[in-house]
Order: sequence, then C-alpha cells, then structure tokens
Amino acid sequence: MTHYETLLTQREGGVATVTINRPKVLNALSQQVIEELHRVLDDQSFTRDLRVMILAGAGEKSFVAGADIAAMRGLTPHEAAEFARLGQSLSLRLEASPFITIAKVQGFALGGGCELAMSCDIVIAAEKALFGQPEVDLGLIPGFGGTQRLARRVGLPLALEVLCGGRKLNGREAQQLGLVSQVTTAEDLDAYVQNLVKNICKAAPRAVAETKRLARSSMEQPLVHGLAAEASSFATCFAGSEALEGLSAFLEKRPARFTTSE
Ligand code: CAA
Repeated sequence: MTHYETLLTQREGGVATVTINRPKVLNALSQQVIEELHRVLDDQSFTRDLRVMILAGAGEKSFVAGADIAAMRGLTPHEAAEFARLGQSLSLRLEASPFITIAKVQGFALGGGCELAMSCDIVIAAEKALFGQPEVDLGLIPGFGGTQRLARRVGLPLALEVLCGGRKLNGREAQQLGLVSQVTTAEDLDAYVQNLVKNICKAAPRAVAETKRLARSSMEQPLVHGLAAEASSFATCFAGSEALEGLSAFLEKRPARFTTSE
C-alpha cells in the first residue's frame, strides 16, 4: 500500500478509511495533505471496487481545523489561487466519485475542515464537534468552496452568520440545520459509522453509485431534467443483473448477493 506522510490509509473489503494525521496542528490542511488526498483518489489499486470512503482526523480533538495557517502566511496571490484550486478540485473529485464518502467528525471542523466535510456525501458528527468558517477573522475568505456550498446546505442567512458573524455550530445544531445527517456521542460515533457502512455495502453497488450520481446532480439542474435522467437510469437497472438478483432475493425470502462489478 502506498505510504503517505500526512495520511493514514486503510482498506478492508470495499471500505477505505483515510485519516488526516497531523494531530499536533489539529490536522490542518497543508498543500501536502491535499496533494496526498488527491494521490489517494489517483491510486486505482486502492480505489478499485471501493464502496465507501470514510474521512476522519487523527485524535479526538479535531477533524480538521482548517487550511494550514502557518503555511498560508507566505503565499503570493498566484500561489493562493493554485492552493484554492487544489482544494476545490479535491472536493469536486470526492463529489464525483462512484463510492459514498462519509466525513466522521469529532472536534473541530473549521474553515477548510468544514469545507472538506461538506464535500462528503454524508457527515456524521459527535455532539461536541464544532463547525465554522472563521476565515474572515484571518483576513481571508474560504477558499475550498465554503462561500458556495454552505448556503446551499443551510440557507443564505445562516450561512452568512457562520461565514461573516463567527457563528459556530455544534454537532446537534449542525444536524438540526442540515449540515450533518446524524449526531452521536463521542463513544458511539465509530459504531454508528460502521453500521451505516455495513448497510451501504449490503446494497447493490451499481444502484448505490447511480443513486449518488443522480441525487448529487439534483443540486445542479432543473427538476424535469433530473427526473428524465432518473427514469432513464431506472430503466437501465432492468438491463443489468443487480435488479434481477435483488428482486428475486426478496421474493425468495433470502439475502441478495450482489457482485461488485457488472
Ligand atoms: N493551521 C495551522 N496550525 C493550526 C491550525 C491551522 N488551521 N489550527 C490550529 N493549529 C495549531 C496551533 O497553531 C497550535 O500549534 P502550537 O501548539 O504549535 O501552538 C496547535 O494547532 C493547537 O492549537 P491551539 O493551541 O490553538 O488549540 P486550542 O484548543 O486552543 O484552539 C482552535 C483550537 C480554536 C481550533 C484554534 O486552534 C484555531 O482557532 N485554529 C484556527 C482555525 C481557523 O481559523 N481555521 C480556518 C483556517 S483558514 C482556511 O481554512 C482557508 C480555507 O478555507 C482554504
């Protein structure tokens, strides 16, 4: 398995766990971290037949406390644009990936950390997690998608309170406001994520990937276009083996056995 300096990676069956491993700086996102996350996605032997990727931060204190402030101090405008594009393209790649991405958040998810969580398909957080976008306090604006994705998730007034007014959201508030799908105690976080992963892996791989693609595209396109794409994809289900197996298994009262690739 490829070695990374800032990440720990693990692959078990169809599930990968990628842990940002810079606990001394609360897992801040340096350029190297983001490049290594890109390399994880580039590594086809690691991502082949992947069903779920869990993204986490090392230690209990922080998911990711933002982009690396020390490294950003010396950036020129040109380098800053490159850095923002590197982070943004990572988000777009995570969103476009055929596997489900889960952000497992405990502790701080600030700035680039909140943005990384928002790039994942599902965000599960501990109650004491803290989400925020404090970039304006540093004389910056978010650079990895925060000005665009937060309002889409929580609506404009609250997004602007978070982005410009320093509002931080704990796990429970983040769930009530739609940023997080489930909140747990710190002790229950792993078990909840593992159970979710188990359910995703039990379902038909192609159907899950296609559902993600269509649900994500619903954010970007008019409803009638999305419905047309859904009908066409629904039809395609009946040309493959997954629907035959899933429907037959139900009727025969047995568990379905799906293969990872058709
Ligand atoms: N970058 C680099 N180092 C960071 C960091 C970051 N984003 N966040 C924390 N650290 C470092 C601290 O400098 C400190 O290092 P030292 O021990 O060497 O001093 C270490 O992590 C521990 O942090 P604190 O001592 O500050 O811990 P705390 O518990 O007192 O406070 C905190 C925690 C509230 C998260 C505080 O560290 C903090 O405010 N961090 C910065 C959060 C932030 O502003 N994030 C946005 C960054 S900009 C961005 O992300 C831009 C973008 O969108 C691309």
